[in-house]
Amino acid sequence: MAEVAVTNTAQKKDNGFVLKVENLEVTYPGAAVVRNVSFSLSRGEALAIVGESGAGKTQTLYAVLGLHSPEAVYKGRVFLAGRNMTLLPDAEAARVRGRDVGMVFQNPGPYLNPARRIGSQIGETVRVHTGLSREAVKRRVREVLEQVELAPDTARRFPHQLSGGMQQRAMIAMAVSCGPELLLMDEPTSALDAPIRRRHIELIAELRREMGLSVVVVTHDIEVVRDIADRVAVLYCGRIIEEGAASSVLERPRHPYTELLLSSAPSVHKRGQRLLAIGGDMPRPGNVPAGCSFHPRCPLAEELCRSNEPSLTGTTHRAACYFSDKLPLGEREVPGNSTGRNA
Ligand SMILES: Nc1ncnc2c1ncn2[C@@H]1O[C@H](COP(=O)(O)OP(=O)(O)O)[C@@H](O)[C@H]1O
Ligand SMILES: [Mg+2]
Repeated sequence: MAEVAVTNTAQKKDNGFVLKVENLEVTYPGAAVVRNVSFSLSRGEALAIVGESGAGKTQTLYAVLGLHSPEAVYKGRVFLAGRNMTLLPDAEAARVRGRDVGMVFQNPGPYLNPARRIGSQIGETVRVHTGLSREAVKRRVREVLEQVELAPDTARRFPHQLSGGMQQRAMIAMAVSCGPELLLMDEPTSALDAPIRRRHIELIAELRREMGLSVVVVTHDIEVVRDIADRVAVLYCGRIIEEGAASSVLERPRHPYTELLLSSAPSVHKRGQRLLAIGGDMPRPGNVPAGCSFHPRCPLAEELCRSNEPSLTGTTHRAACYFSDKLPLGEREVPGNSTGRNA
């Protein structure tokens, strides 16, 4: 049952925001997986959502698109392309998804029809959402394949004839084929080998510039954050615990979780600096501890953190931590990590 808080501000215009999410909650029976998430995206801006596996990143993207699971309860408001998605009938929401928003899912495999040629699948998307003529549709397919650096004859191939990297590109081609203003991507580089991955990141950055796209990208990949994102939101146990300009969050994290998450990524590891590791696992939904949900794993945790959940504070660079001013962590011991700071 998709229960959605409906307000009387019907179809409000967007005030320069391509996307505005207010107090989003996604709850499966007995387990809140997205908790009070709010963020907005200005035209042309790119936001990266980072966090460990199970943090609620994919669930947030699905809720933004109005792809509701029948088992979950949804609360909050999502303004997308100037429309209140929570007020739209399903058919209209589906039109917004195809035309104004492109989505690249984490594993393209299941989203490509195995029985249809790539060109025909992209062409179908264009035809349904734009009503272009047959010839114009064909031209558009050729154009987008070229934009994602796939050879023209890819149009005649079936999905199983493409490598993982080529399938990712075909999904991106389909996602941008109707000229959306917003592109959502879920872990676009996670399945790619190193050399392909580097070019893939550059390609996304180029597409974004050429098409003036606004982007929300969910990623584990710090290079994606560094090369694509203007802003970063860090998700932990379904909540945003830090949010700010990418440069500021990468250089001077204000939440100990973010510092540990970034330090454990070899790609940002500065020479001569020891690799930090986060001990233990992120609590599962339904089993989130009281107070700050990160306190059992946090080197800075005090009594206050065990009893009171800190709210997200700050103006441009916000963090939900009582002890942001004690960062960086320096030589502190990391709980649950038997080797201390050394990973
Ligand atoms: N259908 C479902 N029923 C119950 N829990 C779910 C369902 N789908 C996802 N979850 C849970 O929601 C949490 C967030 O999942 P997800 O958004 O996929 O995480 P990630 O940050 O890795 O993308 C996970 O703990 C996952 O197990
Ligand atoms: Mg995911």
